[in-house]
Amino acid sequence: MAPEPAPSARGSEGADQVPRAEETPFRALLRKHLGTDPNDVPVLTERFEPWEHIVVQSGLNAYLAGNDRAHQAVGLIGSAAGGSFHVHPTLAQILAPASALSGAFEVGAPDWASVPTGAGRSAPCLQQGVLLITDPSGTLAVYLRQEVFPLRRVCLDVLAPEPESAAGFAAELRRLMSENNPYRRQVLRLTQDENHYFSVRFVPRPTFEGQEVVLPPGILELIEEHTIGIGLQRDRLLAAGRHLKRGLLLWGPPGTGKTHTIKYLISRLSEYTIIEMVGSQLGYIGIAGALARSLAPAVLVLEDVDLIAEDRGMPGQSPRRLLFDLLDMLDGLDEDADVVSVLTTNRPEILETAIAARPGRIDRAIEVPLPDAEGRRRLLDLYGRGLHLQVEDLDEVICRTDGVSPSFIKEMLRQAVLRVAPDDGPVVVTDSELKAVLDVLLDPANPLTRLLLGAKPEAPAMAHGRPGHT
Ligand SMILES: Nc1ncnc2c1ncn2[C@@H]1O[C@H](COP(=O)(O)OP(=O)(O)OP(=O)(O)O)[C@@H](O)[C@H]1O
Ligand SMILES: [Mg+2]
Repeated sequence: MAPEPAPSARGSEGADQVPRAEETPFRALLRKHLGTDPNDVPVLTERFEPWEHIVVQSGLNAYLAGNDRAHQAVGLIGSAAGGSFHVHPTLAQILAPASALSGAFEVGAPDWASVPTGAGRSAPCLQQGVLLITDPSGTLAVYLRQEVFPLRRVCLDVLAPEPESAAGFAAELRRLMSENNPYRRQVLRLTQDENHYFSVRFVPRPTFEGQEVVLPPGILELIEEHTIGIGLQRDRLLAAGRHLKRGLLLWGPPGTGKTHTIKYLISRLSEYTIIEMVGSQLGYIGIAGALARSLAPAVLVLEDVDLIAEDRGMPGQSPRRLLFDLLDMLDGLDEDADVVSVLTTNRPEILETAIAARPGRIDRAIEVPLPDAEGRRRLLDLYGRGLHLQVEDLDEVICRTDGVSPSFIKEMLRQAVLRVAPDDGPVVVTDSELKAVLDVLLDPANPLTRLLLGAKPEAPAMAHGRPGHT
Protein backbone atom coordinates (compact mmCIF):
# COMPACT_ATOMS: atom_id res chain seq x y z
CA MET A 1 0.00 0.00 0.00
CA ALA A 2 1.34 3.45 -0.89
CA PRO A 3 2.21 5.64 2.06
CA GLU A 4 -0.46 8.21 2.90
CA PRO A 5 0.88 11.55 4.07
CA ALA A 6 -0.13 12.27 7.65
CA PRO A 7 -2.38 15.32 7.96
CA SER A 8 0.47 17.71 8.04
CA ALA A 9 1.14 21.12 9.42
CA ARG A 10 3.61 21.64 6.63
CA GLY A 11 2.52 24.13 3.98
CA SER A 12 3.89 24.54 0.51
CA GLU A 13 4.54 28.19 1.12
CA GLY A 14 6.88 27.61 4.02
CA ALA A 15 6.53 26.27 7.48
CA ASP A 16 6.51 29.62 9.22
CA GLN A 17 3.25 30.66 7.47
CA VAL A 18 1.40 27.57 8.68
CA PRO A 19 0.48 27.04 12.32
CA ARG A 20 2.44 24.11 13.70
CA ALA A 21 0.49 21.50 15.63
CA GLU A 22 0.34 22.00 19.32
CA GLU A 23 3.07 20.02 21.06
CA THR A 24 1.80 17.11 23.12
CA PRO A 25 3.80 14.55 25.11
CA PHE A 26 3.10 11.93 22.44
CA ARG A 27 4.11 14.14 19.55
CA ALA A 28 7.23 15.20 21.44
CA LEU A 29 8.16 11.57 21.96
CA LEU A 30 7.71 10.79 18.27
CA ARG A 31 9.63 13.90 17.24
CA LYS A 32 12.53 12.93 19.47
CA HIS A 33 12.55 9.36 18.19
CA LEU A 34 12.14 10.15 14.50
CA GLY A 35 14.34 13.23 14.57
CA THR A 36 11.70 15.21 12.74
CA ASP A 37 8.15 16.51 13.12
CA PRO A 38 5.91 13.40 12.95
CA ASN A 39 3.38 15.46 10.99
CA ASP A 40 5.93 15.73 8.20
CA VAL A 41 6.34 11.96 7.95
CA PRO A 42 4.10 9.86 5.70
CA VAL A 43 2.07 7.09 7.34
CA LEU A 44 1.96 3.63 5.80
CA THR A 45 -0.98 1.61 7.06
CA GLU A 46 -0.97 -2.19 6.90
CA ARG A 47 -4.22 -4.00 7.71
CA PHE A 48 -4.66 -7.57 8.89
CA GLU A 49 -7.66 -9.74 9.63
CA PRO A 50 -8.52 -10.19 13.32
CA TRP A 51 -7.43 -13.85 13.38
CA GLU A 52 -4.03 -12.76 12.05
CA HIS A 53 -3.38 -10.72 15.20
CA ILE A 54 -1.20 -13.40 16.79
CA VAL A 55 0.57 -13.91 13.48
CA VAL A 56 1.33 -10.17 13.38
CA GLN A 57 2.63 -10.44 16.94
CA SER A 58 4.89 -13.36 16.04
CA GLY A 59 6.23 -11.40 13.08
CA LEU A 60 6.82 -8.35 15.29
CA ASN A 61 8.58 -10.47 17.91
CA ALA A 62 10.92 -11.90 15.28
CA TYR A 63 11.49 -8.45 13.77
CA LEU A 64 12.27 -6.84 17.11
CA ALA A 65 14.65 -9.67 18.02
CA GLY A 66 16.73 -8.88 14.90
CA ASN A 67 20.41 -8.14 15.32
CA ASP A 68 21.37 -4.55 16.12
CA ARG A 69 17.73 -3.60 16.61
CA ALA A 70 16.48 -1.84 19.73
CA HIS A 71 12.95 -0.86 20.61
CA GLN A 72 10.76 0.67 23.24
CA ALA A 73 7.03 -0.02 23.56
CA VAL A 74 4.80 2.79 24.77
CA GLY A 75 1.06 3.08 25.20
CA LEU A 76 -1.44 5.82 24.72
CA ILE A 77 -3.70 6.33 27.66
CA GLY A 78 -6.78 8.43 27.90
CA SER A 79 -10.48 7.88 27.48
CA ALA A 80 -10.11 8.30 23.74
CA ALA A 81 -7.46 5.58 23.55
CA GLY A 82 -10.10 2.94 23.15
CA GLY A 83 -12.68 2.64 25.90
CA SER A 84 -15.18 5.34 25.11
CA PHE A 85 -14.55 5.25 21.36
CA HIS A 86 -14.76 1.44 21.03
CA VAL A 87 -12.16 1.88 18.35
CA HIS A 88 -8.60 3.00 18.47
CA PRO A 89 -8.07 6.30 16.69
CA THR A 90 -5.62 6.27 13.83
CA LEU A 91 -2.22 7.87 14.08
CA ALA A 92 -3.33 10.43 11.53
CA GLN A 93 -6.29 11.37 13.75
CA ILE A 94 -4.08 11.65 16.83
CA LEU A 95 -1.48 13.75 15.09
CA ALA A 96 -3.85 16.01 13.14
CA PRO A 97 -3.02 19.57 14.23
CA ALA A 98 -6.61 20.66 14.80
CA SER A 99 -7.81 17.34 16.16
CA ALA A 100 -9.59 17.29 19.49
CA LEU A 101 -7.85 13.97 20.01
CA SER A 102 -4.34 15.30 19.74
CA GLY A 103 -4.20 16.50 23.34
CA ALA A 104 -6.33 13.70 24.72
CA PHE A 105 -3.55 11.17 25.22
CA GLU A 106 -0.91 10.59 27.78
CA VAL A 107 2.06 8.39 27.13
CA GLY A 108 1.99 5.32 29.37
CA ALA A 109 2.23 1.57 29.37
CA PRO A 110 1.16 -0.32 26.23
CA ASP A 111 -1.92 -2.53 26.33
CA TRP A 112 -1.06 -6.24 26.23
CA ALA A 113 -3.32 -9.28 26.47
CA SER A 114 -2.48 -12.94 26.85
CA VAL A 115 -3.81 -14.81 23.82
CA PRO A 116 -3.66 -18.48 22.78
CA THR A 117 -0.73 -19.40 20.58
CA GLY A 118 -1.36 -23.14 20.66
CA ALA A 119 -3.49 -25.71 22.46
CA GLY A 120 -2.97 -24.91 26.14
CA ARG A 121 -0.36 -22.25 25.37
CA SER A 122 -0.58 -18.49 25.33
CA ALA A 123 1.68 -15.47 24.95
CA PRO A 124 1.42 -11.71 25.30
CA CYS A 125 -0.04 -9.91 22.31
CA LEU A 126 0.02 -6.14 21.91
CA GLN A 127 -3.54 -4.77 21.75
CA GLN A 128 -2.66 -1.12 21.34
CA GLY A 129 0.65 0.64 21.56
CA VAL A 130 3.53 2.20 19.74
CA LEU A 131 6.85 0.54 19.04
CA LEU A 132 9.72 2.98 18.73
CA ILE A 133 12.30 1.04 16.75
CA THR A 134 15.92 1.91 16.09
CA ASP A 135 18.27 -0.04 13.87
CA PRO A 136 21.37 0.79 11.83
CA SER A 137 19.24 1.89 8.88
CA GLY A 138 17.31 4.48 10.89
CA THR A 139 14.24 4.92 13.06
CA LEU A 140 10.63 3.78 12.77
CA ALA A 141 7.50 4.18 14.83
CA VAL A 142 4.88 1.47 14.49
CA TYR A 143 1.47 2.08 16.03
CA LEU A 144 -0.68 -1.01 16.50
CA ARG A 145 -4.40 -0.42 16.83
CA GLN A 146 -7.63 -2.29 16.22
CA GLU A 147 -10.56 -1.25 14.12
CA VAL A 148 -14.02 -2.24 15.22
CA PHE A 149 -15.64 -1.79 11.87
CA PRO A 150 -15.41 -3.56 9.60
CA LEU A 151 -14.61 -6.74 11.45
CA ARG A 152 -12.08 -5.71 14.08
CA ARG A 153 -9.09 -5.60 11.77
CA VAL A 154 -5.62 -5.08 13.21
CA CYS A 155 -3.82 -2.09 11.74
CA LEU A 156 -0.23 -1.02 11.85
CA ASP A 157 0.43 2.66 11.14
CA VAL A 158 4.10 2.84 10.21
CA LEU A 159 5.95 6.14 10.44
CA ALA A 160 9.43 6.39 9.02
CA PRO A 161 11.29 9.49 7.89
CA GLU A 162 12.30 7.53 4.77
CA PRO A 163 9.25 6.05 2.96
CA GLU A 164 11.38 3.12 1.76
CA SER A 165 12.06 2.18 5.40
CA ALA A 166 8.31 1.88 6.07
CA ALA A 167 7.80 -0.26 2.96
CA GLY A 168 10.87 -2.33 3.85
CA PHE A 169 9.53 -2.88 7.35
CA ALA A 170 6.13 -3.97 5.99
CA ALA A 171 7.68 -6.45 3.56
CA GLU A 172 10.04 -7.87 6.17
CA LEU A 173 7.21 -8.16 8.69
CA ARG A 174 5.06 -10.14 6.23
CA ARG A 175 7.98 -12.45 5.52
CA LEU A 176 8.60 -13.01 9.24
CA MET A 177 4.87 -13.53 9.86
CA SER A 178 4.89 -16.34 7.34
CA GLU A 179 8.11 -17.82 8.71
CA ASN A 180 6.94 -17.71 12.33
CA ASN A 181 3.23 -18.33 11.84
CA PRO A 182 2.00 -19.85 15.15
CA TYR A 183 -0.82 -21.62 13.29
CA ARG A 184 1.63 -23.80 11.37
CA ARG A 185 1.61 -27.53 12.32
CA GLN A 186 -1.27 -26.95 14.74
CA VAL A 187 -4.79 -28.33 14.74
CA LEU A 188 -7.08 -25.36 14.09
CA ARG A 189 -10.84 -25.26 14.33
CA LEU A 190 -12.60 -22.51 12.41
CA THR A 191 -15.60 -21.40 14.36
CA GLN A 192 -17.49 -18.41 15.76
CA ASP A 193 -16.79 -16.78 19.10
CA GLU A 194 -19.49 -15.81 21.57
CA ASN A 195 -20.11 -12.57 19.64
CA HIS A 196 -20.54 -14.52 16.41
CA TYR A 197 -17.25 -13.27 15.06
CA PHE A 198 -15.17 -15.69 13.06
CA SER A 199 -12.44 -17.19 15.18
CA VAL A 200 -9.62 -19.71 14.90
CA ARG A 201 -9.33 -22.03 17.88
CA PHE A 202 -6.39 -24.26 18.70
CA VAL A 203 -7.30 -27.82 19.64
CA PRO A 204 -4.95 -30.51 20.91
CA ARG A 205 -3.72 -33.00 18.35
CA PRO A 206 -5.39 -36.35 19.02
CA THR A 207 -3.21 -39.27 20.02
CA PHE A 208 -3.85 -42.92 19.24
CA GLU A 209 -2.38 -46.04 20.71
CA GLY A 210 -2.26 -48.94 18.31
CA GLN A 211 -5.20 -50.36 16.39
CA GLU A 212 -8.06 -48.16 17.54
CA VAL A 213 -9.80 -47.80 14.20
CA VAL A 214 -11.87 -50.81 13.21
CA LEU A 215 -12.80 -50.80 9.54
CA PRO A 216 -13.31 -53.60 7.01
CA PRO A 217 -10.00 -55.01 5.72
CA GLY A 218 -8.20 -52.70 3.32
CA ILE A 219 -10.31 -49.57 3.95
CA LEU A 220 -7.99 -47.83 6.40
CA GLU A 221 -5.02 -48.67 4.17
CA LEU A 222 -6.81 -47.09 1.22
CA ILE A 223 -7.52 -43.94 3.23
CA GLU A 224 -3.93 -43.77 4.51
CA GLU A 225 -2.53 -44.28 1.03
CA HIS A 226 -4.56 -41.39 -0.38
CA THR A 227 -3.66 -38.99 2.43
CA ILE A 228 -0.44 -39.89 4.21
CA GLY A 229 1.01 -42.05 1.40
CA ILE A 230 0.81 -39.40 -1.31
CA GLY A 231 2.47 -36.87 1.03
CA LEU A 232 5.37 -39.27 1.58
CA GLN A 233 5.88 -39.45 -2.19
CA ARG A 234 5.89 -35.65 -2.47
CA ASP A 235 9.31 -35.26 -4.08
CA ARG A 236 8.86 -38.12 -6.56
CA LEU A 237 5.46 -36.87 -7.66
CA LEU A 238 6.62 -33.29 -8.14
CA ALA A 239 9.74 -34.41 -10.01
CA ALA A 240 7.50 -36.39 -12.33
CA GLY A 241 5.27 -33.35 -12.87
CA ARG A 242 2.32 -34.92 -11.00
CA HIS A 243 0.07 -32.96 -8.67
CA LEU A 244 0.02 -33.36 -4.90
CA LYS A 245 -3.34 -31.84 -4.06
CA ARG A 246 -5.93 -34.47 -3.24
CA GLY A 247 -9.49 -34.72 -2.02
CA LEU A 248 -11.18 -37.53 -0.16
CA LEU A 249 -14.85 -38.01 0.68
CA LEU A 250 -15.65 -40.35 3.56
CA TRP A 251 -19.29 -41.32 3.56
CA GLY A 252 -21.40 -43.67 5.60
CA PRO A 253 -24.03 -43.86 8.33
CA PRO A 254 -23.68 -41.98 11.62
CA GLY A 255 -21.28 -43.39 14.19
CA THR A 256 -19.28 -45.58 11.81
CA GLY A 257 -16.01 -43.77 12.44
CA LYS A 258 -15.62 -41.04 9.82
CA THR A 259 -14.60 -38.44 12.39
CA HIS A 260 -12.69 -41.10 14.34
CA THR A 261 -10.70 -42.03 11.23
CA ILE A 262 -9.90 -38.38 10.56
CA LYS A 263 -8.64 -37.99 14.13
CA TYR A 264 -6.42 -40.99 13.57
CA LEU A 265 -5.04 -39.45 10.36
CA ILE A 266 -4.44 -36.16 12.15
CA SER A 267 -2.53 -37.98 14.88
CA ARG A 268 -0.21 -39.38 12.23
CA LEU A 269 0.17 -36.20 10.15
CA SER A 270 2.06 -34.33 12.84
CA GLU A 271 3.94 -32.20 10.32
CA TYR A 272 0.69 -30.96 8.78
CA THR A 273 -1.42 -27.98 9.75
CA ILE A 274 -4.98 -29.17 10.26
CA ILE A 275 -7.86 -26.83 9.45
CA GLU A 276 -11.21 -28.17 10.64
CA MET A 277 -14.70 -26.93 9.85
CA VAL A 278 -18.18 -28.34 10.10
CA GLY A 279 -20.95 -27.91 7.57
CA SER A 280 -22.77 -25.15 9.40
CA GLN A 281 -19.62 -22.98 9.38
CA LEU A 282 -18.74 -23.46 5.75
CA GLY A 283 -19.44 -19.79 5.04
CA TYR A 284 -15.79 -19.37 6.00
CA ILE A 285 -14.60 -21.58 3.22
CA GLY A 286 -12.57 -18.82 1.57
CA ILE A 287 -10.58 -18.26 4.76
CA ALA A 288 -10.04 -22.00 5.16
CA GLY A 289 -8.61 -22.18 1.66
CA ALA A 290 -6.33 -19.20 2.26
CA LEU A 291 -5.06 -20.74 5.51
CA ALA A 292 -4.43 -24.09 3.82
CA ARG A 293 -2.52 -22.40 1.03
CA SER A 294 -0.31 -20.39 3.37
CA LEU A 295 0.24 -23.17 5.91
CA ALA A 296 0.82 -26.17 3.61
CA PRO A 297 1.44 -29.02 4.12
CA ALA A 298 -2.10 -28.94 5.37
CA VAL A 299 -5.23 -31.00 5.81
CA LEU A 300 -8.58 -29.31 5.31
CA VAL A 301 -11.23 -31.21 7.22
CA LEU A 302 -14.75 -30.35 6.14
CA GLU A 303 -17.15 -32.38 8.25
CA ASP A 304 -20.80 -33.01 7.49
CA VAL A 305 -20.75 -31.10 4.23
CA ASP A 306 -24.34 -32.17 3.54
CA LEU A 307 -25.36 -29.70 6.27
CA ILE A 308 -24.63 -26.90 3.84
CA ALA A 309 -27.55 -28.07 1.79
CA GLU A 310 -29.81 -27.32 4.74
CA ASP A 311 -27.98 -24.34 6.11
CA ARG A 312 -29.14 -20.91 5.15
CA GLY A 313 -25.49 -19.94 4.95
CA MET A 314 -24.20 -16.41 5.28
CA PRO A 315 -26.51 -13.55 4.40
CA GLY A 316 -26.84 -13.36 0.66
CA GLN A 317 -25.39 -16.83 0.05
CA SER A 318 -27.54 -19.73 -1.03
CA PRO A 319 -26.66 -23.19 0.34
CA ARG A 320 -26.22 -24.54 -3.16
CA ARG A 321 -23.88 -21.67 -3.94
CA LEU A 322 -21.88 -22.50 -0.79
CA LEU A 323 -21.40 -26.04 -1.95
CA PHE A 324 -20.12 -24.80 -5.29
CA ASP A 325 -17.94 -22.25 -3.46
CA LEU A 326 -16.49 -25.11 -1.48
CA LEU A 327 -15.66 -27.07 -4.60
CA ASP A 328 -14.32 -23.94 -6.30
CA MET A 329 -12.09 -23.27 -3.31
CA LEU A 330 -10.73 -26.81 -3.56
CA ASP A 331 -10.18 -26.18 -7.25
CA GLY A 332 -8.34 -22.93 -6.51
CA LEU A 333 -5.75 -24.61 -4.30
CA ASP A 334 -2.36 -24.90 -5.90
CA GLU A 335 -1.99 -28.28 -7.64
CA ASP A 336 1.53 -28.65 -6.31
CA ALA A 337 0.62 -27.77 -2.74
CA ASP A 338 0.60 -30.63 -0.28
CA VAL A 339 -3.02 -30.03 0.72
CA VAL A 340 -5.38 -32.87 1.52
CA SER A 341 -9.10 -32.11 1.71
CA VAL A 342 -11.14 -34.63 3.66
CA LEU A 343 -14.91 -34.27 3.49
CA THR A 344 -17.44 -36.33 5.41
CA THR A 345 -21.14 -36.90 4.95
CA ASN A 346 -23.98 -39.22 5.93
CA ARG A 347 -25.81 -38.36 2.77
CA PRO A 348 -23.58 -38.55 -0.30
CA GLU A 349 -26.63 -38.30 -2.58
CA ILE A 350 -27.01 -34.63 -1.58
CA LEU A 351 -23.53 -33.87 -2.86
CA GLU A 352 -23.74 -35.92 -6.00
CA THR A 353 -24.98 -33.22 -8.36
CA ALA A 354 -22.47 -30.65 -7.18
CA ILE A 355 -19.55 -33.07 -7.27
CA ALA A 356 -20.55 -34.30 -10.72
CA ALA A 357 -20.77 -30.69 -11.95
CA ARG A 358 -17.27 -29.94 -10.64
CA PRO A 359 -15.28 -33.09 -11.34
CA GLY A 360 -11.72 -33.53 -10.10
CA ARG A 361 -12.00 -31.67 -6.79
CA ILE A 362 -12.65 -34.83 -4.82
CA ASP A 363 -10.68 -37.63 -6.38
CA ARG A 364 -11.57 -40.49 -4.04
CA ALA A 365 -14.82 -41.41 -2.25
CA ILE A 366 -14.58 -44.16 0.35
CA GLU A 367 -17.48 -45.73 2.16
CA VAL A 368 -17.16 -46.15 5.92
CA PRO A 369 -19.79 -48.84 6.42
CA LEU A 370 -21.50 -50.37 9.42
CA PRO A 371 -19.32 -53.15 10.83
CA ASP A 372 -19.92 -56.75 9.79
CA ALA A 373 -19.78 -59.61 12.31
CA GLU A 374 -15.98 -59.71 12.29
CA GLY A 375 -15.85 -55.93 12.74
CA ARG A 376 -18.22 -56.11 15.70
CA ARG A 377 -16.04 -58.81 17.26
CA ARG A 378 -12.98 -56.57 16.91
CA LEU A 379 -14.92 -53.63 18.34
CA LEU A 380 -15.91 -55.70 21.38
CA ASP A 381 -12.22 -56.44 21.87
CA LEU A 382 -11.28 -52.80 21.44
CA TYR A 383 -13.89 -51.31 23.73
CA GLY A 384 -13.69 -54.23 26.11
CA ARG A 385 -10.07 -53.32 26.94
CA GLY A 386 -9.61 -52.83 30.66
CA LEU A 387 -12.66 -55.01 31.43
CA HIS A 388 -12.92 -58.72 32.13
CA LEU A 389 -15.29 -59.78 29.40
CA GLN A 390 -16.53 -63.18 30.50
CA VAL A 391 -19.06 -63.67 27.75
CA GLU A 392 -20.00 -67.28 27.03
CA ASP A 393 -22.32 -66.68 24.12
CA LEU A 394 -20.39 -64.06 22.18
CA ASP A 395 -22.13 -65.16 18.98
CA GLU A 396 -25.47 -64.12 20.46
CA VAL A 397 -24.10 -60.61 21.15
CA ILE A 398 -22.56 -60.42 17.68
CA CYS A 399 -25.84 -61.54 16.15
CA ARG A 400 -28.02 -59.15 18.12
CA THR A 401 -25.80 -56.22 17.25
CA ASP A 402 -26.18 -56.76 13.51
CA GLY A 403 -26.77 -53.34 11.94
CA VAL A 404 -25.41 -51.22 14.78
CA SER A 405 -22.56 -48.73 14.54
CA PRO A 406 -19.22 -48.93 16.38
CA SER A 407 -20.33 -46.09 18.61
CA PHE A 408 -23.30 -48.24 19.66
CA ILE A 409 -20.93 -51.02 20.74
CA LYS A 410 -18.82 -48.58 22.68
CA GLU A 411 -21.92 -47.29 24.47
CA MET A 412 -23.22 -50.83 25.06
CA LEU A 413 -20.04 -51.71 26.97
CA ARG A 414 -20.15 -48.48 28.93
CA GLN A 415 -23.69 -49.20 30.04
CA ALA A 416 -22.76 -52.79 30.88
CA VAL A 417 -20.07 -51.49 33.23
CA LEU A 418 -22.70 -49.37 34.98
CA ARG A 419 -24.70 -52.53 35.64
CA VAL A 420 -21.84 -54.33 37.36
CA ALA A 421 -22.02 -54.01 41.13
CA PRO A 422 -19.16 -51.77 42.26
CA ASP A 423 -16.32 -53.43 44.11
CA ASP A 424 -12.58 -52.95 44.22
CA GLY A 425 -11.67 -55.76 41.83
CA PRO A 426 -11.57 -55.75 38.03
CA VAL A 427 -14.88 -55.06 36.29
CA VAL A 428 -16.30 -58.37 35.13
CA VAL A 429 -18.89 -58.06 32.36
CA THR A 430 -20.88 -61.19 31.61
CA ASP A 431 -23.65 -62.24 29.21
CA SER A 432 -26.26 -61.10 31.68
CA GLU A 433 -25.17 -57.43 31.70
CA LEU A 434 -24.80 -57.34 27.93
CA LYS A 435 -28.20 -58.95 27.44
CA ALA A 436 -29.84 -56.47 29.80
CA VAL A 437 -28.23 -53.51 28.04
CA LEU A 438 -29.16 -54.79 24.59
CA ASP A 439 -32.76 -55.33 25.69
CA VAL A 440 -32.94 -51.67 26.62
CA LEU A 441 -30.97 -50.20 23.72
CA LEU A 442 -32.67 -52.27 21.04
CA ASP A 443 -36.17 -52.01 22.51
CA PRO A 444 -38.54 -51.51 19.55
CA ALA A 445 -40.64 -49.30 21.81
CA ASN A 446 -37.73 -46.87 21.96
CA PRO A 447 -36.72 -46.30 18.35
CA LEU A 448 -35.13 -42.93 19.11
CA THR A 449 -32.51 -44.46 21.42
CA ARG A 450 -31.60 -46.91 18.68
CA LEU A 451 -31.35 -44.13 16.15
CA LEU A 452 -29.23 -41.96 18.45
CA LEU A 453 -26.77 -44.80 18.97
CA GLY A 454 -26.43 -45.67 15.32
CA ALA A 455 -28.61 -48.78 15.17
CA LYS A 456 -30.92 -49.26 12.22
CA PRO A 457 -34.49 -48.11 12.95
CA GLU A 458 -35.52 -51.78 13.01
CA ALA A 459 -32.64 -53.82 14.40
CA PRO A 460 -32.83 -57.00 12.33
CA ALA A 461 -32.23 -59.41 15.22
CA MET A 462 -35.23 -57.98 17.05
CA ALA A 463 -37.34 -57.83 13.95
CA HIS A 464 -36.72 -61.38 12.72
CA GLY A 465 -39.62 -62.92 14.55
CA ARG A 466 -42.09 -60.22 13.64
CA PRO A 467 -44.90 -61.22 11.40
CA GLY A 468 -44.81 -59.69 7.99
CA HIS A 469 -41.13 -58.81 8.17
CA THR A 470 -39.29 -59.60 4.96
N1 LIG B 1 -14.67 -47.66 13.02
C1 LIG B 1 -14.50 -47.40 14.31
N2 LIG B 1 -13.52 -47.98 15.02
C2 LIG B 1 -13.37 -47.71 16.32
N3 LIG B 1 -14.17 -46.87 17.02
C3 LIG B 1 -15.16 -46.26 16.37
C4 LIG B 1 -15.38 -46.50 14.98
N4 LIG B 1 -16.43 -45.76 14.60
C5 LIG B 1 -16.86 -45.09 15.66
N5 LIG B 1 -16.11 -45.38 16.75
C6 LIG B 1 -16.30 -44.82 18.09
O1 LIG B 1 -17.53 -44.11 18.08
C7 LIG B 1 -17.33 -42.72 18.28
C8 LIG B 1 -18.23 -41.94 17.34
O2 LIG B 1 -17.84 -42.18 15.98
P1 LIG B 1 -17.60 -41.02 14.91
O3 LIG B 1 -17.89 -39.71 15.53
O4 LIG B 1 -16.27 -41.20 14.31
O5 LIG B 1 -18.72 -41.35 13.85
P2 LIG B 1 -19.03 -40.61 12.48
O6 LIG B 1 -18.96 -41.63 11.39
O7 LIG B 1 -18.17 -39.43 12.33
O8 LIG B 1 -20.54 -40.21 12.70
P3 LIG B 1 -21.37 -38.96 12.10
O9 LIG B 1 -21.72 -39.33 10.70
O10 LIG B 1 -22.55 -38.90 13.00
O11 LIG B 1 -20.51 -37.76 12.20
C9 LIG B 1 -15.85 -42.50 18.01
O12 LIG B 1 -15.35 -41.44 18.78
C10 LIG B 1 -15.21 -43.82 18.41
O13 LIG B 1 -15.00 -43.84 19.80
MG1 LIG C 1 -18.57 -37.35 12.31
